[in-house]
Amino acid sequence: MSEFNLTIARREIAKRRTFGIISHPDAGKTTLTEKLLLFGGAIQMAGSVKARKSGRYATSDWMSIERDRGISVTSSVMQFDYQDHQINLLDTPGHQDFSEDTYRVLTAVDSAVMVIDCAKGVETQTRKLMEVCRMRNTPIMTFINKLDREGKNPFDLLAEIEDILQIECVPLTWPVGIGSDFRGIYHLERRELTLFNGDRHALPTEPVALSGPDDPKLDELLGEQAQALRDDLELLSAGNPYSHEDYLIGGQTPVFFGSAVNNFGVRELLEGFIRLAPAPMPRPTETRMVEPDEPRFSGFVFKVQANMDPAHRDRIAFLRICSGKFEKGMKLHHHRVGKEVVIANPIMFLAQSRTSVEEAWPGDIIGIRNHGTIRIGDTFTDGKEALTFTGIPNFAPEHFRKVLLKTPLKSKQLRKGLEQLVDEGAAQLFIPLVGSDLILGAVGELQFEVIVSRLREEYGVDASYMPVPYETARWIQCADRNMLRAFEEDNRGQLTHDAKGYLTLLANSEWQLKCIKERWPDIDYLATRECQTRDGEE
Ligand code: G4P
Repeated sequence: MSEFNLTIARREIAKRRTFGIISHPDAGKTTLTEKLLLFGGAIQMAGSVKARKSGRYATSDWMSIERDRGISVTSSVMQFDYQDHQINLLDTPGHQDFSEDTYRVLTAVDSAVMVIDCAKGVETQTRKLMEVCRMRNTPIMTFINKLDREGKNPFDLLAEIEDILQIECVPLTWPVGIGSDFRGIYHLERRELTLFNGDRHALPTEPVALSGPDDPKLDELLGEQAQALRDDLELLSAGNPYSHEDYLIGGQTPVFFGSAVNNFGVRELLEGFIRLAPAPMPRPTETRMVEPDEPRFSGFVFKVQANMDPAHRDRIAFLRICSGKFEKGMKLHHHRVGKEVVIANPIMFLAQSRTSVEEAWPGDIIGIRNHGTIRIGDTFTDGKEALTFTGIPNFAPEHFRKVLLKTPLKSKQLRKGLEQLVDEGAAQLFIPLVGSDLILGAVGELQFEVIVSRLREEYGVDASYMPVPYETARWIQCADRNMLRAFEEDNRGQLTHDAKGYLTLLANSEWQLKCIKERWPDIDYLATRECQTRDGEE
């Protein structure tokens, strides 16, 4: 292994931007991703991400047998260079692939870009993903998309975002008109106007430099709409200015406007992102903060994905590097199991322009092949300091099913299969205190189908589901043992243990949960539970 050089490390870290996109389905996440890759030079021709998505669209990753799983793994992390920066874009699956994974990917990013459809405003999935970002005060940049279509008034959109998402909006670009009147965007800081030509197959024209809103050139370029822009800018000047500190703690979001499908406004977003979004930051562990420029390697696993051949139970663990330098062939300490492992053949997600795929730095993601030994939340380090990264939770499921076994003699295999599949983190298993049911909980409904199909393919177990009346779950904690016992007695019918043995309440509705909380106010009801287990716990 080569020497650790602090200057090189700091340079590499400063270059990195690791982020995810949060949006509601159809707001334009895939289109924006594609355009970011296009501007980053990682793809020559727009269309490849879209093509992948439509393959996934009709059916899930697991349903289609001939699906090329290699693609799905590499599209989990997309890396590209832009202006001497290295950008890691982590996929946050939406649509049918929406699952707990989508939430958990957000624990591995340093910032997020929120895409909003200008006609729809703030939608449910965006709201949920935003709540996850809130847990770590993740900095968020906003892209308001589809300005070429009729939509809400931009001021109303900003008010809606501020109101629903409780984050202050600071526009850095501003649209001139909307829908059929959309003429372009004005860059507030640079005082530049970029005119919209509506050509999906061309890049936008170069921006026109202006002396400010009073520049007479605006009238030449925009005619009557120049005054409307001036009025808007006047109103905006009364708003709060951009504060980098507030952005970094998730209190303020810089807002960009555009039309991703027309490549419009994307360059401004990307430039703003490079300039403002944070490089890899220190990460909390149970014992201390880990700084990215520490010489010793450390990282955690935030996602586990079953790989190509279901028969081999081959899995890929996605590890986010937090400190040090990774080199191929490195020997790492796998905490929890307490073993040294050689990472001989990692999957590296590197930009095409780079030739070396031998090393990776904080902010980068590496994929480690394994046979089920690596779990979500696991920490890897070189050196034996007992580190456990925190903030990689399980999230309370929103959909539930009772698992029914069609072939009664296979109950052992069913239990084993379920336990192993939920280990991958896409669904959770709950075992009620009363009775012998097995209940699956998931954030996205498709996971139920995926699990039944995999139980059949990989474990030879035929299972089906029955609906159960639960709508939400909370992990239960209480330091007072007597109170906890009394709570258990009172709510026995609703209580379960999850796969790791933690007490979990399943409630039929938010309203029922509220009633229980009112009756038992001193109990802690947690919507997330940390995944990781410490060395020697298992
Ligand atoms: P998602 O990943 O967030 O689900 O959204 P996606 O990018 O797939 O976009 C959803 C639809 O919105 C697509 O249309 C896409 O072309 C369209 N779209 C994205 N950005 C813009 C925009 O700036 N303006 C307009 N007018 N449309 C936009 P589709 O009909 O589902 O697909 P396609 O037939 O256009 O490929």
